[in-house]
Formats: sequence, structure tokens, C-alpha cells
Amino acid sequence: MSDSSNDNLEQAKQEGRYIRTIRSFVKREGRLTKGQAAAIEKCWPTMGLEHQQGMLDLAQVFGNDNDVVLEIGFGMGKSLVEMAKSAPHLNFIGIEVHRPGVGACLMDADEAGITNLRIFEHDAVEVFADCIAQGSITTVQLFFPDPWHKKRHHKRRIVQPAFVESLRSKLKIGGVFHMATDWENYAEHMLEVMQTAEHFKNQSETNDYVPRPDLRPLTKFEQRGHRLGHGVWDLMFERIS
Ligand SMILES: C[S@@+](CC[C@H](N)C(=O)[O-])C[C@H]1O[C@@H](n2cnc3c(N)ncnc32)[C@H](O)[C@@H]1O
Repeated sequence: MSDSSNDNLEQAKQEGRYIRTIRSFVKREGRLTKGQAAAIEKCWPTMGLEHQQGMLDLAQVFGNDNDVVLEIGFGMGKSLVEMAKSAPHLNFIGIEVHRPGVGACLMDADEAGITNLRIFEHDAVEVFADCIAQGSITTVQLFFPDPWHKKRHHKRRIVQPAFVESLRSKLKIGGVFHMATDWENYAEHMLEVMQTAEHFKNQSETNDYVPRPDLRPLTKFEQRGHRLGHGVWDLMFERIS
């Protein structure tokens, strides 16, 4: 941490303000390709959402009252665009901090000609807290989040009791939090956090994992994993109250 951020943190502590210091990502700079930069310039005015605009009026954002699916950390956005394309009766919001991923997603969305997708380039934890109204989301998707393999980094995993409680309040009653991971220890961690979270019901008949639902597209990376005999764990929890 730089001296100036240390100073800011000290000052915030003295003023009794709370600043979150543990994040689920490390911002990688990564260069934008020309195509990604052009897609951001072209599509941001219609598809971009800004954290500083505060609470969203979803009907106004999409121009309709369709159900909203929100994806955290969409990476390059391949599966998000595929899902939005095949479900024009639903609205989609993607949140990602990695700018080249945002550019790649907008490129694909533009090529697909879809109008039911909006994007935040921001930390999902802050977007949930400041921009998403209570009880407004039908599905939250979290596919292959950074697993933070080392034990001392587990606190960086985005699935934590406080975030899950914030997320629950944004789901409609009957809405679903759908997670998938290829890292068994993270799957166990997800299960543990969700089993102790109140007001959720596991959709698994065996009270653990569910088979991959058809609505989650199989990624290339996952297909390769299957061939190599690696596992993938899907978890789906419904908000019941
Ligand atoms: C391992 S990648 C998986 C990407 C994609 N879901 C997939 O299945 O290919 C995890 C992604 O989550 C993003 N991410 C991590 N924490 C985030 C946060 N708090 N807000 C938004 N994006 C986040 C990272 O930038 C990264 O692109």
C-alpha cells in the first residue's frame, strides 16, 4: 500500500469512517485491444452504468419491467452475452473490474445486436451496496470467481457472510443465487457460508450441489477441464424470506 493510501486510511479511521481494505480482486492493468477500446467508446453511452449515479431504477434503465439477472465478475463476457442473446425476455446486468473484459464483452454484445444488457466497470460489492434496490433482482450469477487458493488469502474470497446478506436483500423472494466453481475447496467454502446464511433454501436435493443447469453455458475452459477429469460444482440457493 502506498504512503498516501496509508495516510487516507489513518485519516478515515480517526474520523470514524469505515474503509473496506480487503477486496476480492487485484486490479490488473492489461492493455485494451483496438477493438475493445472502440467498443467501449461506441457502446458505453447506451450500455454503461456508473457507480456514482447511485440507486438504479431498473424499469427506467431497460425501458421495461422484465426480470433482471445480475452477473458478478463476467470475465470476458462470453457466457453473459450468450445468455442475454438467448433470453431476450430477461434483462441482464454484468459487473466486472477488468477493463479489457468490459471491452471484450461490449464488442460481443454489439456484434450480437442485443439491447437487454447493461454493464458496470466497478467493484461488485460497492455496486450491490449503492446501486441495487432491495428485492429487485431475480437471479445473481457468480461463475468461477477468483478462488484465492492460499489459506491466508481466503478472506479475499467474495463469498463471505456479510456479502451474502447484502446480496440476499437485493434478491426478490423466490430469487436465486447461482454459483459455480472448479475449485473444490472454494465449493466447500461456498456451501458452508450458504448453509449458515439465514433465509435461503438450498435447491439441491442432497443439500449440497446441483447439476449444471442448461441455462449456464459451458465455457471452453470448462470443456477442457471436463476432458482432463476436473470437477465443477454448481450451487443454487433460493431466497425464501
Ligand atoms: C476467475 S475470473 C472468471 C471470469 C468468468 N466468470 C468466467 O467464468 O470465465 C473472475 C473475475 O471476477 C472479477 N472480479 C473479482 N472480484 C470482483 C468484484 N468484486 N467486482 C467485479 N468483478 C470482480 C475478476 O476481475 C475476474 O475477471
